[in-house]
Amino acid sequence: MFFSISSHIMFVVLISLSKDKLLEIDSLYRNYDVLPTSISNTQKSMVGNIEENELFTNVHHIYDQHSEAVTMLKFANNNKSKLCCASNDGTLSICDVLTSPPSVKAILRCHTGPVTGFDWSTSDELIASCSTDATICFWDSKQYCCLRCVNDLFYSSVLACIFNPINNNILITGNKAGYVCVLNVSTGMYPKNGQVKIGGEILSLAVNNSGQIIWVGNDKGDIVSLKLNNSDNSYLTKCHRVITSPNRGAITCLSWKTWISRKARDPMLLANCGNNRLYLYKVSENDDSSLTLKKQFIIPHTHGKNVLRSAFCPIMSFRQGACVVTTSEDSCIYFIDIDKESNYFINKLQGHACLTLGVSFNYNETILATSDVQGIIIIWSQQCQKQEQSL
Ligand SMILES: *[C@@H]1O[C@H](CO)[C@@H](O)[C@H](O)[C@H]1NC(C)=O
Ligand SMILES: *[C@@H]1O[C@H](CO)[C@@H](O)[C@H](O)[C@H]1NC(C)=O
Ligand SMILES: *[C@@H]1O[C@H](CO)[C@@H](O)[C@H](O)[C@H]1NC(C)=O
Ligand SMILES: *[C@@H]1O[C@H](CO)[C@@H](O)[C@H](O)[C@H]1NC(C)=O
Ligand SMILES: *[C@@H]1O[C@H](CO)[C@@H](O)[C@H](O)[C@H]1NC(C)=O
Repeated sequence: MFFSISSHIMFVVLISLSKDKLLEIDSLYRNYDVLPTSISNTQKSMVGNIEENELFTNVHHIYDQHSEAVTMLKFANNNKSKLCCASNDGTLSICDVLTSPPSVKAILRCHTGPVTGFDWSTSDELIASCSTDATICFWDSKQYCCLRCVNDLFYSSVLACIFNPINNNILITGNKAGYVCVLNVSTGMYPKNGQVKIGGEILSLAVNNSGQIIWVGNDKGDIVSLKLNNSDNSYLTKCHRVITSPNRGAITCLSWKTWISRKARDPMLLANCGNNRLYLYKVSENDDSSLTLKKQFIIPHTHGKNVLRSAFCPIMSFRQGACVVTTSEDSCIYFIDIDKESNYFINKLQGHACLTLGVSFNYNETILATSDVQGIIIIWSQQCQKQEQSL
């Protein structure tokens, strides 16, 4: 155990398999944010002429290893077959979706409450997960073991966590008491001045690629941007607040992306909001990284308690427009062309029998995974036979 008494009195308990050791942190760059300026012939031939309405209509596999709602799904950054799933049953699972048959590699048990979120480190070696049990756990994603669990600084339910992409020694957490905290992954300590009170319950976090700006979404419909000071990487300052009026719904998911399409070259932020909206904001490149509402799409999402998620399609080169995908309360998965003014739904997947929650693409967009409130996970692949073989 480590006890740190400073001017900001902090008391941190570490439960670790290697209590005296620092966790070793990797530092590779993510490889999926490259978007070509024109469609190359190679890409055309790889993708073929897929009709938009044929995208991901093929059910590749159905997983049912979780006994309660699967709240979040994320493919590894650099491995197109490795999927992590978090559940209200208190466990996470790691799947290999491209073995035949698709397999569950491990069930990760340590949390004593529902798992609310998790993130892969940049090189996929570590997974950080958070729970209503007021802890954050770090897992070795190859040995499938728990390396360390750290208590929330305020002993509150932790509802979101995300690695700083350029420094995986830093995990940003958000809790039910409305605090965003910086956690030093290697030591398991909370550096002083690394906490900011936003208010409400923090449900979602996103970070830009250089790790300088963090967006925070809460259950009151606020999206707040925070700056992470580069020099000591711990100091958080508030920059800008957006209120998603008039009916302030909970912000259940935030995703950041540079360059969605050739038409939309500005960085964008995507937000699920529990007032039946999916919002798309343009991120200003000024220092305060303020947000301007660009588009809003009507999605069944009335209850903020339903933590619906959305994602940008990682590769856009084969389509005219730019595409995002979201879960919904009507059990469907919606594909939306964000460049269209009307008829923006380009596809709807109807495989789930109840409210859908998690959604994730693998990095080269050959597989889509979706999850629901009963704990079912569906793995979708593109229908085209050619694609099947090249998976
Ligand atoms: C991806 O993950 C699977 C399952 O853990 C592993 O067997 C495979 O070797 C990995 N592939 C790469 C390219 O790392
Ligand atoms: C985390 O703690 C280690 C060990 O004290 C220190 O070297 C490192 O700079 C810290 N990182 C941050 C981001 O505070
Ligand atoms: C970043 O932190 C350092 C050290 O705490 C401080 O001197 C500096 O003024 C900060 N920079 C900004 C831009 O806030
Ligand atoms: C992240 O945001 C900061 C502040 O707006 C900006 O200076 C930086 O360029 C952004 N990074 C990326 C990769 O967009
Ligand atoms: C996805 O990646 C694999 C190799 O990693 C490749 O064989 C396949 O063609 C890629 N598919 C697309 C659509 O880029």
